[in-house]
Amino acid sequence: MSWNKRYEREEYLFGTAPADYLVRYAPVLPSRARVLCVADGEGRNSVYLASLGHEVTAFDPAPAAVEKARKLAARKGVHVAFNIAGIEDWDWTAQFDAVVGIFIQFVGPKWRARLFTQLAGAVKPGGLLLLHGYAPRQVEYGTGGPGDARNMYDDALLRAAFEGWQIDTLRDYDAMVDEGEGHYGKSALVDFVARKP
Ligand SMILES: C[S@@+](CC[C@H](N)C(=O)[O-])C[C@H]1O[C@@H](n2cnc3c(N)ncnc32)[C@H](O)[C@@H]1O
Repeated sequence: MSWNKRYEREEYLFGTAPADYLVRYAPVLPSRARVLCVADGEGRNSVYLASLGHEVTAFDPAPAAVEKARKLAARKGVHVAFNIAGIEDWDWTAQFDAVVGIFIQFVGPKWRARLFTQLAGAVKPGGLLLLHGYAPRQVEYGTGGPGDARNMYDDALLRAAFEGWQIDTLRDYDAMVDEGEGHYGKSALVDFVARKP
């Protein structure tokens, strides 16, 4: 089923609360940061960042998700610059104080290399990249994410992709996730926070 079809329902597939990861690491952002949320889905993460006072831009290619994201922002009384776009058609020339990618493992190794270059380019020198996703053993847990271990992150992959960056956090751990029906149960997670030189 396409992402848009999955989002065509009233309930929020991943809930309306931000990812635990983001709540944990949002304090590293400078105040009133300009933040880009990549593949933001139904807006739970962008809306949370806006509620903290950040200037947030977000994009996702699923119109049904962006529509729900707009509703969530209105309900919370915050502004997010939402866009309907995929990584293929996003204008990557603008730079941000921070780029946030949460569960964006819809690409395999070849496209991921290109996506990581795009993410890196969108971070200002001295800015932050916040990346959160699944580790390869998540495929055995089957509690969310793509069914292909090659799409997942591990320590070596992230260190190589962001060589020269200052890595503030790189954690691989198991935790119980309860983020809507899309992500529920014991999960193999990776937290990454790095600063661009
Ligand atoms: C697992 S969901 C995560 C959504 C959101 N980041 C969150 O944590 O709630 C993955 C998202 O990737 C989006 N997506 C799929 N293909 C994409 C593409 N080519 N470019 C950008 N986003 C894409 C989907 O529409 C979906 O919203």
